[in-house]
Amino acid sequence: MRQVENVDIVYGASWGDEGKGKITHHLASKDGYYDFVCRWNGGSNAGHTIYHNGQKFATHIVPSGVFHGIKSVIGPGCVLNIDSFHREVEDLERGGVDTSLVKVHPLTHIVTDNHKREDVANLAAKLGTTSQGIAPAYRDKYARVGLLARDSSLDKHFLLGGSLYGNILCEGAQGYHLDINYGNYPFVTSSECLPYAACSLGFPPQKIDKIIACAKIYDTRSGEDPLFPADLLQDPTLAMIGEIGQEYGTTTGRRRKVNWLNLDKLIEAIVVGGATHLVINKCDILERVGVYQIFHNGRILKFKSITEMQSYIHNACMTSSTLKAVHFSRSPEILRSENILEAA
Ligand code: IMP
Ligand code: MG
Repeated sequence: MRQVENVDIVYGASWGDEGKGKITHHLASKDGYYDFVCRWNGGSNAGHTIYHNGQKFATHIVPSGVFHGIKSVIGPGCVLNIDSFHREVEDLERGGVDTSLVKVHPLTHIVTDNHKREDVANLAAKLGTTSQGIAPAYRDKYARVGLLARDSSLDKHFLLGGSLYGNILCEGAQGYHLDINYGNYPFVTSSECLPYAACSLGFPPQKIDKIIACAKIYDTRSGEDPLFPADLLQDPTLAMIGEIGQEYGTTTGRRRKVNWLNLDKLIEAIVVGGATHLVINKCDILERVGVYQIFHNGRILKFKSITEMQSYIHNACMTSSTLKAVHFSRSPEILRSENILEAA
Protein backbone atom coordinates (compact mmCIF):
# COMPACT_ATOMS: atom_id res chain seq x y z
CA MET A 1 0.00 0.00 0.00
CA ARG A 2 1.42 3.42 -1.02
CA GLN A 3 1.51 5.75 1.96
CA VAL A 4 1.50 9.50 2.43
CA GLU A 5 5.03 10.90 2.09
CA ASN A 6 5.05 14.70 2.49
CA VAL A 7 2.30 17.13 3.33
CA ASP A 8 2.33 20.89 2.76
CA ILE A 9 -0.49 23.03 4.12
CA VAL A 10 -1.81 26.42 2.99
CA TYR A 11 -4.01 28.21 5.54
CA GLY A 12 -5.53 31.62 6.07
CA ALA A 13 -3.95 33.75 8.80
CA SER A 14 -6.68 36.40 8.75
CA TRP A 15 -10.45 36.44 8.12
CA GLY A 16 -10.40 34.52 4.83
CA ASP A 17 -9.90 36.11 1.41
CA GLU A 18 -6.13 36.18 1.86
CA GLY A 19 -5.33 34.65 -1.54
CA LYS A 20 -5.02 31.00 -0.44
CA GLY A 21 -6.45 29.84 -3.78
CA LYS A 22 -3.86 31.80 -5.70
CA ILE A 23 -1.00 30.41 -3.58
CA THR A 24 -2.33 26.81 -3.73
CA HIS A 25 -2.75 27.09 -7.51
CA HIS A 26 0.81 28.42 -7.77
CA LEU A 27 2.29 25.63 -5.59
CA ALA A 28 0.29 22.92 -7.37
CA SER A 29 1.87 23.99 -10.67
CA LYS A 30 5.16 22.47 -9.40
CA ASP A 31 5.48 19.75 -12.06
CA GLY A 32 4.41 16.31 -10.95
CA TYR A 33 5.24 16.84 -7.27
CA TYR A 34 1.82 16.68 -5.65
CA ASP A 35 -0.37 13.58 -5.97
CA PHE A 36 -3.39 15.19 -4.31
CA VAL A 37 -4.68 18.66 -3.49
CA CYS A 38 -7.22 18.47 -0.65
CA ARG A 39 -9.71 20.63 1.24
CA TRP A 40 -10.12 19.76 4.92
CA ASN A 41 -12.75 22.26 6.13
CA GLY A 42 -15.78 24.31 5.21
CA GLY A 43 -18.08 24.14 2.22
CA SER A 44 -19.37 26.49 -0.47
CA ASN A 45 -18.98 29.44 1.93
CA ALA A 46 -15.42 29.72 0.63
CA GLY A 47 -14.67 31.58 -2.56
CA HIS A 48 -11.36 31.21 -4.33
CA THR A 49 -10.57 33.41 -7.30
CA ILE A 50 -8.15 31.64 -9.63
CA TYR A 51 -6.57 32.81 -12.85
CA HIS A 52 -5.68 29.84 -15.01
CA ASN A 53 -4.36 30.11 -18.59
CA GLY A 54 -5.74 33.61 -18.86
CA GLN A 55 -9.22 32.59 -17.65
CA LYS A 56 -10.76 33.70 -14.35
CA PHE A 57 -12.46 30.98 -12.26
CA ALA A 58 -14.37 31.26 -8.98
CA THR A 59 -14.26 28.00 -7.03
CA HIS A 60 -16.08 27.33 -3.77
CA ILE A 61 -15.54 23.72 -2.72
CA VAL A 62 -13.41 22.13 -5.47
CA PRO A 63 -9.69 22.20 -4.53
CA SER A 64 -7.31 24.00 -6.88
CA GLY A 65 -5.46 20.84 -7.98
CA VAL A 66 -7.89 20.15 -10.85
CA PHE A 67 -6.41 23.03 -12.83
CA HIS A 68 -3.11 21.13 -13.01
CA GLY A 69 -4.45 17.63 -13.60
CA ILE A 70 -4.01 16.61 -9.95
CA LYS A 71 -6.60 14.60 -8.01
CA SER A 72 -8.57 17.02 -5.86
CA VAL A 73 -10.17 15.66 -2.72
CA ILE A 74 -12.95 17.15 -0.60
CA GLY A 75 -12.24 15.70 2.85
CA PRO A 76 -14.45 14.28 5.62
CA GLY A 77 -14.15 17.56 7.58
CA CYS A 78 -15.92 19.47 4.78
CA VAL A 79 -19.63 19.88 4.14
CA LEU A 80 -20.99 19.65 0.60
CA ASN A 81 -24.19 20.82 -1.04
CA ILE A 82 -24.80 18.59 -4.05
CA ASP A 83 -26.49 21.23 -6.24
CA SER A 84 -23.84 23.93 -5.69
CA PHE A 85 -21.14 21.29 -6.19
CA HIS A 86 -22.67 20.26 -9.54
CA ARG A 87 -22.94 23.89 -10.66
CA GLU A 88 -19.27 24.41 -9.86
CA VAL A 89 -18.19 21.22 -11.63
CA GLU A 90 -20.20 22.26 -14.73
CA ASP A 91 -18.59 25.72 -14.71
CA LEU A 92 -15.13 24.16 -14.55
CA GLU A 93 -15.97 21.78 -17.39
CA ARG A 94 -17.20 24.65 -19.53
CA GLY A 95 -13.80 26.25 -18.89
CA GLY A 96 -12.04 23.12 -20.16
CA VAL A 97 -10.99 21.69 -16.77
CA ASP A 98 -11.01 17.87 -16.33
CA THR A 99 -13.36 17.37 -13.37
CA SER A 100 -13.06 13.56 -13.30
CA LEU A 101 -10.18 14.33 -10.94
CA VAL A 102 -12.55 15.72 -8.29
CA LYS A 103 -13.15 13.23 -5.48
CA VAL A 104 -15.35 13.47 -2.41
CA HIS A 105 -14.57 11.52 0.75
CA PRO A 106 -17.43 9.08 1.46
CA LEU A 107 -17.70 10.45 5.03
CA THR A 108 -18.10 14.10 3.98
CA HIS A 109 -21.36 15.53 5.33
CA ILE A 110 -24.07 16.83 3.02
CA VAL A 111 -25.54 20.34 3.27
CA THR A 112 -29.24 19.93 2.53
CA ASP A 113 -31.57 22.57 1.09
CA ASN A 114 -33.20 22.73 4.53
CA HIS A 115 -29.82 23.65 6.03
CA LYS A 116 -29.55 26.49 3.54
CA ARG A 117 -33.10 27.69 4.23
CA GLU A 118 -32.44 27.62 7.97
CA ASP A 119 -29.22 29.60 7.53
CA VAL A 120 -31.01 32.28 5.48
CA ALA A 121 -33.93 32.48 7.95
CA ASN A 122 -32.02 32.47 11.26
CA LEU A 123 -28.37 33.35 10.81
CA ALA A 124 -27.66 35.36 7.67
CA ALA A 125 -28.96 38.69 8.96
CA LYS A 126 -27.63 38.28 12.50
CA LEU A 127 -24.11 37.03 11.77
CA GLY A 128 -23.69 37.92 8.11
CA THR A 129 -23.13 34.30 7.09
CA THR A 130 -22.72 33.35 3.45
CA SER A 131 -26.20 31.68 3.48
CA GLN A 132 -24.66 28.36 2.37
CA GLY A 133 -26.15 26.29 5.22
CA ILE A 134 -22.78 25.78 6.91
CA ALA A 135 -23.73 26.12 10.61
CA PRO A 136 -26.87 23.92 10.40
CA ALA A 137 -24.93 21.22 8.49
CA TYR A 138 -22.13 21.07 11.07
CA ARG A 139 -24.69 21.15 13.88
CA ASP A 140 -26.33 18.05 12.44
CA LYS A 141 -22.94 16.41 11.97
CA TYR A 142 -22.04 16.87 15.64
CA ALA A 143 -25.54 15.92 16.76
CA ARG A 144 -24.92 12.70 14.80
CA VAL A 145 -28.02 13.06 12.65
CA GLY A 146 -26.23 14.24 9.46
CA LEU A 147 -26.32 12.75 5.97
CA LEU A 148 -23.03 11.35 4.59
CA ALA A 149 -21.91 11.68 0.96
CA ARG A 150 -21.81 7.87 0.67
CA ASP A 151 -25.50 7.67 1.65
CA SER A 152 -26.62 10.60 -0.48
CA SER A 153 -27.69 10.99 -4.11
CA LEU A 154 -24.19 12.19 -5.06
CA ASP A 155 -23.10 10.45 -8.26
CA LYS A 156 -20.87 7.51 -7.08
CA HIS A 157 -18.10 8.33 -9.61
CA PHE A 158 -17.32 11.33 -7.58
CA LEU A 159 -16.71 9.24 -4.41
CA LEU A 160 -13.09 8.67 -3.37
CA GLY A 161 -12.15 5.05 -4.01
CA GLY A 162 -8.82 4.57 -2.23
CA SER A 163 -7.04 6.60 0.42
CA LEU A 164 -4.40 9.30 0.00
CA TYR A 165 -0.77 8.54 -0.91
CA GLY A 166 2.39 10.35 -1.99
CA ASN A 167 2.72 14.13 -1.67
CA ILE A 168 -0.28 16.08 -0.52
CA LEU A 169 -1.06 19.79 -0.70
CA CYS A 170 -3.80 20.88 1.71
CA GLU A 171 -5.82 23.95 0.82
CA GLY A 172 -7.38 25.76 3.79
CA ALA A 173 -10.66 27.64 3.66
CA GLN A 174 -11.62 30.74 5.67
CA GLY A 175 -8.91 31.74 8.16
CA TYR A 176 -7.53 31.74 11.70
CA HIS A 177 -9.82 34.53 12.93
CA LEU A 178 -12.92 32.74 11.57
CA ASP A 179 -11.94 29.43 13.20
CA ILE A 180 -14.59 27.90 15.45
CA ASN A 181 -12.06 27.54 18.31
CA TYR A 182 -9.87 30.65 17.93
CA GLY A 183 -12.02 33.23 16.15
CA ASN A 184 -14.10 36.02 17.68
CA TYR A 185 -17.01 33.68 18.63
CA PRO A 186 -19.86 33.76 17.58
CA PHE A 187 -18.59 35.82 14.62
CA VAL A 188 -16.85 32.75 13.21
CA THR A 189 -17.54 29.90 10.85
CA SER A 190 -18.40 26.38 12.05
CA SER A 191 -15.22 24.55 11.06
CA GLU A 192 -11.57 24.28 12.04
CA CYS A 193 -9.48 26.46 9.76
CA LEU A 194 -6.05 25.81 11.35
CA PRO A 195 -3.34 23.46 10.04
CA TYR A 196 -3.77 20.93 12.87
CA ALA A 197 -7.23 20.12 11.46
CA ALA A 198 -5.75 19.16 8.06
CA CYS A 199 -4.79 15.82 9.66
CA SER A 200 -8.49 14.94 9.49
CA LEU A 201 -7.78 14.18 5.80
CA GLY A 202 -6.12 10.98 6.92
CA PHE A 203 -2.37 11.49 7.53
CA PRO A 204 -0.36 11.70 10.75
CA PRO A 205 1.12 15.05 11.92
CA GLN A 206 4.69 13.73 11.40
CA LYS A 207 4.14 13.91 7.64
CA ILE A 208 3.71 17.70 7.66
CA ASP A 209 6.59 19.53 6.01
CA LYS A 210 5.75 23.14 5.10
CA ILE A 211 2.94 25.22 6.60
CA ILE A 212 2.24 28.30 4.52
CA ALA A 213 0.21 31.08 6.14
CA CYS A 214 -1.48 33.58 3.83
CA ALA A 215 -2.43 37.15 4.67
CA LYS A 216 -2.88 40.44 2.84
CA ILE A 217 -0.97 43.68 3.41
CA TYR A 218 -4.27 45.06 4.76
CA ASP A 219 -7.12 43.28 6.57
CA THR A 220 -10.60 42.66 5.19
CA ARG A 221 -13.79 41.22 6.65
CA SER A 222 -16.95 40.07 4.93
CA GLY A 223 -19.79 39.46 7.37
CA GLU A 224 -20.55 40.84 10.82
CA ASP A 225 -17.77 41.32 13.35
CA PRO A 226 -17.49 43.94 16.14
CA LEU A 227 -13.75 44.07 15.32
CA PHE A 228 -14.74 45.62 11.98
CA PRO A 229 -17.36 48.31 12.72
CA ALA A 230 -19.48 49.53 9.80
CA ASP A 231 -17.96 53.04 9.91
CA LEU A 232 -14.77 51.60 8.38
CA LEU A 233 -16.71 51.75 5.12
CA GLN A 234 -16.84 55.57 5.43
CA ASP A 235 -13.05 56.03 5.67
CA PRO A 236 -11.96 57.38 2.26
CA THR A 237 -8.46 55.82 2.25
CA LEU A 238 -9.75 52.39 3.32
CA ALA A 239 -12.57 52.68 0.78
CA MET A 240 -10.00 53.39 -1.92
CA ILE A 241 -8.00 50.28 -0.92
CA GLY A 242 -11.22 48.25 -1.12
CA GLU A 243 -12.03 49.63 -4.58
CA ILE A 244 -8.58 49.22 -6.10
CA GLY A 245 -8.20 45.80 -4.42
CA GLN A 246 -11.67 44.77 -5.65
CA GLU A 247 -12.66 43.67 -2.15
CA TYR A 248 -16.03 42.11 -2.88
CA GLY A 249 -17.04 38.61 -1.71
CA THR A 250 -16.46 35.82 -4.27
CA THR A 251 -19.43 33.89 -2.84
CA THR A 252 -21.76 36.69 -1.79
CA GLY A 253 -20.70 39.72 -3.84
CA ARG A 254 -20.78 41.77 -0.60
CA ARG A 255 -18.44 44.74 -0.16
CA ARG A 256 -15.75 43.73 2.36
CA LYS A 257 -14.81 46.02 5.24
CA VAL A 258 -11.17 47.06 4.98
CA ASN A 259 -8.82 47.96 7.84
CA TRP A 260 -5.10 48.43 8.33
CA LEU A 261 -3.18 45.20 8.92
CA ASN A 262 -3.41 44.16 12.57
CA LEU A 263 0.06 42.75 13.19
CA ASP A 264 -0.74 41.48 16.70
CA LYS A 265 -3.52 39.33 15.28
CA LEU A 266 -1.39 38.15 12.36
CA ILE A 267 1.44 37.08 14.69
CA GLU A 268 -1.05 35.15 16.87
CA ALA A 269 -2.24 33.29 13.74
CA ILE A 270 1.34 32.46 12.75
CA VAL A 271 2.39 31.31 16.22
CA VAL A 272 -0.68 29.16 16.97
CA GLY A 273 -0.89 27.86 13.39
CA GLY A 274 2.82 26.93 13.34
CA ALA A 275 3.56 28.61 10.00
CA THR A 276 6.95 27.87 8.41
CA HIS A 277 6.29 30.34 5.59
CA LEU A 278 4.22 33.51 5.41
CA VAL A 279 2.95 35.02 2.18
CA ILE A 280 1.58 38.56 2.31
CA ASN A 281 -0.48 39.27 -0.79
CA LYS A 282 -1.69 42.36 -2.61
CA CYS A 283 1.24 44.64 -1.75
CA ASP A 284 0.74 46.41 -5.09
CA ILE A 285 -2.70 47.63 -3.98
CA LEU A 286 -1.24 49.57 -1.06
CA GLU A 287 1.49 50.94 -3.33
CA ARG A 288 -1.16 52.30 -5.67
CA VAL A 289 -2.92 54.03 -2.76
CA GLY A 290 0.41 55.24 -1.36
CA VAL A 291 -0.52 55.12 2.36
CA TYR A 292 1.37 52.66 4.57
CA GLN A 293 -0.08 51.92 8.01
CA ILE A 294 -0.48 48.99 10.42
CA PHE A 295 -1.68 48.32 13.97
CA HIS A 296 0.93 46.86 16.29
CA ASN A 297 0.96 46.58 20.08
CA GLY A 298 -2.39 48.37 20.05
CA ARG A 299 -0.97 51.45 18.27
CA ILE A 300 -1.15 52.69 14.71
CA LEU A 301 2.23 52.88 12.97
CA LYS A 302 2.85 54.91 9.80
CA PHE A 303 5.60 54.21 7.27
CA LYS A 304 7.11 56.29 4.47
CA SER A 305 7.30 53.50 1.90
CA ILE A 306 6.19 49.95 1.18
CA THR A 307 9.74 48.68 1.71
CA GLU A 308 9.97 50.28 5.16
CA MET A 309 6.61 48.76 6.07
CA GLN A 310 7.56 45.33 4.72
CA SER A 311 10.82 45.19 6.62
CA TYR A 312 9.01 46.10 9.86
CA ILE A 313 6.41 43.35 9.28
CA HIS A 314 9.15 40.86 8.33
CA ASN A 315 11.16 41.50 11.52
CA ALA A 316 8.11 41.37 13.80
CA CYS A 317 6.82 38.11 12.28
CA MET A 318 10.22 36.39 12.30
CA THR A 319 10.15 36.42 16.12
CA SER A 320 7.85 33.39 15.76
CA SER A 321 10.05 30.31 16.30
CA THR A 322 8.58 28.23 13.46
CA LEU A 323 8.72 30.86 10.71
CA LYS A 324 11.55 30.52 8.16
CA ALA A 325 10.61 33.09 5.52
CA VAL A 326 8.23 35.92 4.72
CA HIS A 327 7.30 36.55 1.11
CA PHE A 328 5.62 39.74 -0.11
CA SER A 329 3.55 39.10 -3.19
CA ARG A 330 1.98 41.28 -5.85
CA SER A 331 -0.32 40.48 -8.77
CA PRO A 332 -0.80 36.91 -10.15
CA GLU A 333 1.32 37.63 -13.22
CA ILE A 334 4.35 38.52 -11.13
CA LEU A 335 3.79 35.53 -8.81
CA ARG A 336 4.46 33.10 -11.64
CA SER A 337 8.18 33.83 -11.61
CA GLU A 338 8.55 33.88 -7.82
CA ASN A 339 9.58 31.10 -5.47
CA ILE A 340 7.54 31.70 -2.35
CA LEU A 341 9.02 28.72 -0.51
CA GLU A 342 12.56 30.04 -0.51
CA ALA A 343 13.98 30.18 3.00
CA ALA A 344 15.25 33.59 4.11
P1 IMP B 1 -20.65 30.94 7.34
O1 IMP B 1 -19.35 30.21 7.24
O2 IMP B 1 -21.34 31.07 6.02
O3 IMP B 1 -21.51 30.39 8.42
O4 IMP B 1 -20.30 32.45 7.77
C1 IMP B 1 -19.78 32.77 9.04
C2 IMP B 1 -18.85 33.97 8.96
O5 IMP B 1 -17.67 33.61 8.25
C3 IMP B 1 -19.43 35.17 8.20
O6 IMP B 1 -18.93 36.34 8.81
C4 IMP B 1 -18.88 35.01 6.80
O7 IMP B 1 -18.81 36.23 6.11
C5 IMP B 1 -17.50 34.45 7.10
N1 IMP B 1 -16.96 33.62 6.02
C6 IMP B 1 -17.28 32.32 5.75
N2 IMP B 1 -16.57 31.86 4.72
C7 IMP B 1 -15.77 32.87 4.33
C8 IMP B 1 -14.78 32.99 3.32
O8 IMP B 1 -14.46 32.06 2.57
N3 IMP B 1 -14.14 34.21 3.22
C9 IMP B 1 -14.43 35.23 4.06
N4 IMP B 1 -15.36 35.16 5.02
C10 IMP B 1 -16.02 33.99 5.16
MG1 MG C 1 -12.56 34.05 -0.37
